[in-house]
Amino acid sequence: MGVQPGGFRFRLCEECVWLSAMPERLRSPATARNRQPILTVLQRVLPSNARVLELASGAGEHAAYFAAAMPGVTWQPSDPDADARASIAAWIGADAVANVRPPLNIDVRAGLWGVEEQPPFDALVAINMIHISPWEATLGLVRGAGRLLRPGGLLFTYGPYKRDGRHTTPSNESFDASLRARDPSWGVRDVADVTRAAEHSAMQLREIVEMPANNLSLVFEKRRLVE
Ligand SMILES: C[S@@+](CC[C@H](N)C(=O)[O-])C[C@H]1O[C@@H](n2cnc3c(N)ncnc32)[C@H](O)[C@@H]1O
Repeated sequence: MGVQPGGFRFRLCEECVWLSAMPERLRSPATARNRQPILTVLQRVLPSNARVLELASGAGEHAAYFAAAMPGVTWQPSDPDADARASIAAWIGADAVANVRPPLNIDVRAGLWGVEEQPPFDALVAINMIHISPWEATLGLVRGAGRLLRPGGLLFTYGPYKRDGRHTTPSNESFDASLRARDPSWGVRDVADVTRAAEHSAMQLREIVEMPANNLSLVFEKRRLVE
């Protein structure tokens, strides 16, 4: 893809390519590898009629793929990047998936996301965002989960993580160094730090799922109301 050092397009996805048939559609090789393993977890943990808000949807391939595989689910994608939103809209249009809403412009660091008037969501999903954004984005994400999920609702995150202060593999350590070289505010986070931040927003870590390529899925649940 066109690389503009320092520009958002570069940050969106270094290895994304545009499809020649529909120039606004971006395709990420990583998504082709991770979408089915992620879908398997989502199908297990989400209610079949869940209303899902996805943050940092990027190119939009995940949204189109998951929505097509889970027809009872309503999927709301979002991204703060205009190229990403154009790509998401193009994927939805091309695949004609009826249960995906048009993409929203949401920066998770904002105090309000413009969806606060809607009924509470059953789940928030953020794939490959936590390590490719400043720590403030993770704090905004968990605050949003506390604000927008129904009691018992889920926050699903996916990506590489450290555990107990250590990288899980040398390749993740190298990846972390390359991320920090690109932007010092980025980096592979520790599961414990994310969990601690989530607990401040009434979110409890329910499950850690080991995923291919040394990634983890984290499933947090919003505390249920005490009777
Ligand atoms: C590596 S891409 C991941 C995209 C997609 N989820 C995937 O896995 O292919 C990181 C995404 O995070 C988004 N992002 C970065 N900072 C953000 C923020 N503060 N709020 C919401 N999204 C953000 C970027 O626009 C980008 O789309």
